[in-house]
Parts: sequence; structure tokens; C-alpha cells
Amino acid sequence: MKRLLTGVKPTGIAHLGNYFGAIKPAIELSKNADYECYYFIADYHALTTVQDKEKLYDYTYQIACTWLACGLDPQKVVLYKQSDVPQTFELSTILSNLTPKGLMNRAHAYKAKVEANEQANEDKDYGVNMGLYCYPILMTADILLMDANYVPVGVDQKQHVEIARDVASYFNKRFGNTFILPEELVPEGVGALVGLDGRKMSKSYGNTIPIFADEKTLRKLVNKIVTDSTAPDEPKSLDNTIFKLYKLFATKQQTEEFAEKLQKGISWGEAKSELFDLMNTTLAPMREKYNYLQEHREIVDEILKQGGKKAREYAQKTIKKVREAIGVVEVNK
Ligand code: TRP
Repeated sequence: MKRLLTGVKPTGIAHLGNYFGAIKPAIELSKNADYECYYFIADYHALTTVQDKEKLYDYTYQIACTWLACGLDPQKVVLYKQSDVPQTFELSTILSNLTPKGLMNRAHAYKAKVEANEQANEDKDYGVNMGLYCYPILMTADILLMDANYVPVGVDQKQHVEIARDVASYFNKRFGNTFILPEELVPEGVGALVGLDGRKMSKSYGNTIPIFADEKTLRKLVNKIVTDSTAPDEPKSLDNTIFKLYKLFATKQQTEEFAEKLQKGISWGEAKSELFDLMNTTLAPMREKYNYLQEHREIVDEILKQGGKKAREYAQKTIKKVREAIGVVEVNK
């Protein structure tokens, strides 16, 4: 049995880019009987940017409800909050002593921030808190604590898993074989999803489609998709945002039929309306479930409570091993 672990930061409403890039592939993987899955809400990772009580609280429920509404089965997956596993923070402290500072200097989120500061003629560490700087160590603790074999992540997180692997091997070399060396599982063929304006779908571009947007909003957003000026009855190139989004929701046959229609020439308006109908068929039941869970947070609490208990029990065993390995005196035997 191999263990899969992944985390999602509660930093805002999940959009279709998150769904197709991370949530859906992780849920598919969890259906595999050979995998034991630990999926969690990385609430303390969010603290690097979300420093607002109401927001952190709401975003946390949003992510939990999102996983469940997208089909995560809490019988199969241990779903928990990072903050319910305090051993994470103990391990993070220990691991920070095995992590070279230079490795953190090269971590991409920090590096990008430094580069932006240099461009703007600011001090290189302007706006950088230690949470951001040490982010990869905390993530390493999440992963190693649960003995994860595989970590399903998007390409942007690949480097972080490599860091976790490096730190695990530094520890093993110094203190004896303690940690499993984790490997990233980057879903193939899921490149960046296009957003409303044809650029990568990203919150920072303001071009996203939230997974659970209500029907009216969804229709509005689809209508906002930027198209070219091809006349209604002219054939359309398939290199357009509507078709790219359509493909994600469609069966092979639906995709072929839609491609044919576009190439024959239907208006962008009609194309958008077909896209909306198809999307809404898939998303409506998920949206309903999401809204139900948001209104019944006690269901979510119970699932997180059970998950937290399991995760903590496992973490406790790991921490015991680690303390022994490094020579911490144990008086509470
Ligand atoms: N850093 C991840 C992100 O930004 C979230 C995360 C935190 C994570 N801890 C993790 C992912 C451990 C995988 C494993 O999306």
C-alpha cells in the first residue's frame, strides 16, 4: 500500500484551474485501491498571506466543502486540517536545522519575490515574512510526518517536493534511516488551463471561473470569454478558449461534434451557449452539494474531526521515532 499526501492552501475560492489541475486528479487517484490517501487543508501555510480572521475561517470551510463536493470520499481519504496536527510544527522546527539556508534562497516563491523587489528597486526582502521564507520546510514537515510515498501536486509545487526529498535524505544521513523519500506526482497532460481572456487561468489575472459560481454568474462569465472577430457563419479555428474549456467537460464524441460545428461555422454566441449548457450539467450537482455542506458545517466538522484524529495518531508515532533518532530525552514514558 503506498501513501499519497497532498495539501491545499485555503486562500480563496477554488476555480476551474484548481479543479482540473489539482482537485480532480487527486480524487481520481484516491479511487485506486493501492493507495492510502491523506489530503489536508494547509491552513498555516495560508497565514503567509491570509492575515484576516474571517477570511481564514471562511476559506478553510470553502476548501473542505470543495473537496467533498467534488467527490472526495471521506471513508477512503483521511481529510484533515494541518492545524489539527500540531506535530507538524515540532517536526518543522527540527527540520529547519537540517535545511541549508541556501536551499531556501533558491525556492521559487521566495526567489520570485526577491526578483520583483529588485526590479522595483526595493530592499530584496521587502514584504517577505519568515513564513514565506521557510514555507518549504513546513511543507516538508507535512509530507515527512505522514510517511508519504507520493505527493500529487501541480508543476508549480514540484520544487517543494524535491526539497522535501533532499531534507529527508539529509536527516537520514545524519540520524539514520527515518524518513521515506517522497516523490512528486505531477498529473500528465494537464497544462495550465486557459482563463476568460485566453491567458492562464489565475486569480492574479482576474480571469477565473469559480467551480461553484451560481448559474447566473456562470452564464455571465462564459459570455465574457474573449473571442476573435470571425463572422458568425465563418469557420472557426479550434485554437480558441471556448473550445479549450469545452474539451475539459466533454466526452470524446461531444468534442468531435463540437469541433465539427465550429469548423462549419456557428456564431460565438451559440458556441458560448453550448459551452455553458455542458459546463452547467457537470457543475450543477457539485454546486448543490457544496451549498448544502456550507449550510451544514456540522457535517464537515465531523469529517475533519475524524480525519484530524487519525492524522494526529500517525503523526505522534513519527514524532516519537524522530525524537529518539535525534536524542531528545523522553521523561514521559
Ligand atoms: N504548497 C501547496 C500549495 O501551495 C500546499 C501544500 C502545503 C502542500 N503542504 C503541502 C501540497 C504538502 C502537497 C504536500 O498549493
